[in-house]
Amino acid sequence: SGALALGLAAFPAMAQEGGLDAATLRADAAALFEPIPDKVEAIRKSEISPEGHKITPEKVDLGRSLFFDPRMSKSGLISCQTCHNAGLGGADGLPTSIGHGWQKGPRNAPTAFNSVFNVAQFWDGRAPDLAEQAKGPLQAGVEMHNTPENLIATLKSMPGYEAMFKSAFPEDADPVSFQNFAHAVEQFESTLITPDGKFDLFLKGDDNAMNEQEKRGLRAFMDTGCTACHNGVNVGGQDYYPFGVVAKPGADVLPAGDTGRFQVTKTVDDEYVFRAAPLRNVALTAPYFHSGAVWDLKEAVQIMSSSQIGTDLTPDQVDDIVAFLDTLTGKQPQIVHPILPLRTEQTPRPAP
Ligand code: HEM
Ligand code: HEM
Repeated sequence: SGALALGLAAFPAMAQEGGLDAATLRADAAALFEPIPDKVEAIRKSEISPEGHKITPEKVDLGRSLFFDPRMSKSGLISCQTCHNAGLGGADGLPTSIGHGWQKGPRNAPTAFNSVFNVAQFWDGRAPDLAEQAKGPLQAGVEMHNTPENLIATLKSMPGYEAMFKSAFPEDADPVSFQNFAHAVEQFESTLITPDGKFDLFLKGDDNAMNEQEKRGLRAFMDTGCTACHNGVNVGGQDYYPFGVVAKPGADVLPAGDTGRFQVTKTVDDEYVFRAAPLRNVALTAPYFHSGAVWDLKEAVQIMSSSQIGTDLTPDQVDDIVAFLDTLTGKQPQIVHPILPLRTEQTPRPAP
């Protein structure tokens, strides 16, 4: 794609031997990346809110309860937290997720942390924003296997939820709706951000936040061309590229059956095209790739170097890049597990 060609043409000159000059390194990095902000004040424009919408504590509180509530699934067993565990970097640590009825899903669960900064959601970008995204797993047969009707009946059966929706959406005549469910979940997710990793502290001016090896890794990450695709605040998550632009990885890593963005656009050029994975907290979220086939971050970097940039990195460069990727681990959100509203006789019972 055009963006790729531009990025590859724009490699900065290789750094000189010896220690890296922190000021130059920071200036080069600042042209490609941004630190994670301490707080997201408003959700960017979306279909529900073309002008963008401010985050309110009431919506976030509601969204937190919904995120942790397994009664949002048909079985009463599976919540967002099941597959986006807030204690495990926002992911589930499985190759591909296990959902309703112990069904194995087709893809690895990406972290829900910092997802508000991605250009679009899912490995193939098929949901434009987090609110649209939240409607997916709730209804997916292999995830929560619920229906909007049963969800609304469940929420309306509990006075605790009725009160929370009312205070989160005071203007709304009928606040308990599927749209508002999605909207509240989206607002909670936008609080799941991880500022102040070593890389952020370095970008913000602390020369000593990263050690020499981590700095060498950042230099190599920029100079070998990883940043053609992995850039911006999330070090990825901004655009789509063929997985295997130089050489296709084996079918274990890139299964033939999942054609990625082709399933969204039906354009031949989009076969095996995926969103460049956001690399924030990547050290916490093994296994890797949409197939979840690779457990070792070092191996994931080696696969990228042969499949995406077509150079064999030296073993030292690989180690340095992995050390740099470790600096993308930020301050994890500290969440108090919500006490969830009490069920009533009207609450639909768990069903197989
Ligand atoms: C993708 C949130 C429930 C498994 C995502 C993404 C978000 C998210 C934000 C996109 C992240 C990205 O693209 O970087 C939620 C919320 C849920 C929920 C709010 C509850 C309503 C679940 C459950 C499972 C699951 C229960 C497992 C059974 C996955 C998988 C993907 C994904 C496999 C990737 C799907 C693909 O790319 O096709 N989720 N999730 N999620 N989630 Fe969830
Ligand atoms: C995924 C690192 C270069 C596009 C990944 C992942 C890592 C990574 C660790 C897996 C993340 C995860 O599963 O959570 C690197 C490094 C690079 C590099 C270190 C330089 C050596 C590139 C380039 C492109 C690219 C140049 C675009 C041409 C992608 C895509 C994915 C990905 C599309 C998702 C693949 C999938 O569908 O599973 N990268 N990357 N990467 N990267 Fe890179």
